[in-house]
Amino acid sequence: MMNEINDLKQALEASPGSMYLRLRLLEKMLLVPECLKEVEPIVQRGLELHPSHIELKEVLSELYFLQKKYSACIIVCEEIKNMPGIRPETLARLAKCHQKEGNENESLEVYQETLTRFPEFSDDELDQSYRLRNNIPGDDEIDDLFSKPDLSFADVGGMEKVKREIDLKIIKPLENADLYASYGKKVGGGILLYGPPGCGKTFIARATAGEIDASFINITLNDILDMWIGNSEKNLNRFFEMARANTPCVMFFDEIDALGAKRSDMRQSAGKNIINQFLAELDGLESDNEGILVIGATNMPWHLDTAFRRPGRFDRIIFVPPPDDASKEAILQLKLAGKPQQNIDIKKIARKAKDYSGADLNAIIDIAVEKILEDAIETGIPKPISTRDLLDALKIHRPSTQEWFTTAKNYALFANKSGLYDDILKYVK
Ligand SMILES: Nc1ncnc2c1ncn2[C@@H]1O[C@H](COP(=O)(O)OP(=O)(O)OP(=O)(O)O)[C@@H](O)[C@H]1O
Ligand SMILES: [Mg+2]
Repeated sequence: MMNEINDLKQALEASPGSMYLRLRLLEKMLLVPECLKEVEPIVQRGLELHPSHIELKEVLSELYFLQKKYSACIIVCEEIKNMPGIRPETLARLAKCHQKEGNENESLEVYQETLTRFPEFSDDELDQSYRLRNNIPGDDEIDDLFSKPDLSFADVGGMEKVKREIDLKIIKPLENADLYASYGKKVGGGILLYGPPGCGKTFIARATAGEIDASFINITLNDILDMWIGNSEKNLNRFFEMARANTPCVMFFDEIDALGAKRSDMRQSAGKNIINQFLAELDGLESDNEGILVIGATNMPWHLDTAFRRPGRFDRIIFVPPPDDASKEAILQLKLAGKPQQNIDIKKIARKAKDYSGADLNAIIDIAVEKILEDAIETGIPKPISTRDLLDALKIHRPSTQEWFTTAKNYALFANKSGLYDDILKYVK
């Protein structure tokens, strides 16, 4: 090897203008640890002749990487990462540097981008650390994600309007598919639930499945993107195929706004592919979606691509408001059932719990119970839950829905295309 390197050095001295010789020499030198310290001047000399020569820069990045100068390596890679002709190995090196520097997110993004640009490429080390290609779920694993919820509408407190809409818009059409068919109307498409956090979107989706004894799968698209980089479209397709084999089935897609937001960032092309795949599955272009109910949920409907709202997709949009007093009573009743208690004035708690979500109500019961358990351990006497306990807990846990309305109101006032957010305005009035 040393002989070869010396020969190349001499040849380069004779014709310093030859990029070919320079690169061959550098290539060999990078393989010999003792030669590394001589590499940089040879690269720099080349860059004087050909500034921003991509292959020279790639050599430089490799040198820095071998010398563990990760931040220097990042700077060089960043400079060239969008140039055509860059090699995937260089991008993978950039991902590794970010990883070494502790920026896992950036590292993952760069690697994801690399796989999108170079579908044939993979790097074992990065695959290992992100459990990517080895983590393609088996059919059994996907099958396990389907469940039969033992919840029904009876377990959902209040939310009468939402229940009615779901019944009318998705349950009835499913039950009367033949009638619909006789008028040439396809049963399908999805509904989109939106509203402040903790107000029962996920809960009612599960209850919908229970109500009609359908199987249920909860899919967070963000997880699909992150877990199976490069395979996310295929996996999304497998979820749909599995659902088609498991009808009737409620497919619940949580946080679908995350997809819309993704479009603008670095993973643009990856994001676009999965959006297109998702829309194609919804449209049932390739296959029949009969017996599949699609429910999506989001806290930020305004971030959603309008393509999602076309007919046959999420064409029915339902606002899930915080529970009203009657709903709050129903929720409290449900959650307190079976717990030791003493004439709790549920009406009073519900009235006092202004702006509290279902999740907030859960939280105050938890707080009250914890307090009672602590006292019981001290005194040896377990007390039943009382109105007082719950009122005290209300003081500790503040309601969480107001923040959402502050944002939502702005969208409702200033970006309310075709009255989409009228429900919000009605509610805040
Ligand atoms: N109407 C309700 N009846 C009974 N329980 C409810 C109701 N609404 C909310 N809850 C309770 O509050 C918890 C939180 O609700 P859920 O997870 O469905 O909210 P979400 O709207 O999906 O919130 P996020 O936007 O944060 O995902 C549920 O697990 C459930 O226990
Ligand atoms: Mg949810």
